[in-house]
Amino acid sequence: MKKILIINGPNLNLLGKREPEIYGNESWMEMMETLQRYFALEAQLVYYQSNHEGDIIDRLQSADCDGIVLNAGAYTHTSLAIADCIAAITVPVIEVHISNVAAREEIRRRSLIAPACRGVISGLGAQSYLLAIQYFLL
Ligand code: DQA
Repeated sequence: MKKILIINGPNLNLLGKREPEIYGNESWMEMMETLQRYFALEAQLVYYQSNHEGDIIDRLQSADCDGIVLNAGAYTHTSLAIADCIAAITVPVIEVHISNVAAREEIRRRSLIAPACRGVISGLGAQSYLLAIQYFLL
């Protein structure tokens, strides 16, 4: 069974309460349960969330899995350090976003980490994660 690591960055622990008009009403716990149910027979999903850039880098560096689904939150748009880390490790990373960052403020249209990632899925809510996991299983 493939092992997929899901990493959520800053403020994603507030899903369900945080700007629900943008990020929806579902908590991360609910989204994660849906993913666990959906992939129960196919994948082992491991989850990590941190509000701290260095902790996310440590987790990426120590990842022992087949693929990483990363929602780096606002660090997507600012963190050269996370981009360097993704480029340095051999495990493939898919960048995901709940909201459609291409349709939001100018600063969110730029991703520093995208060039180091295998691909990007944005704007599909919890399904952004689902489709990224699916990619690693095919
Ligand atoms: C986000 C989009 C980012 O711009 C924002 O800073 C987030 C969440 C998303 O999932 O839509 O924290 O990554």
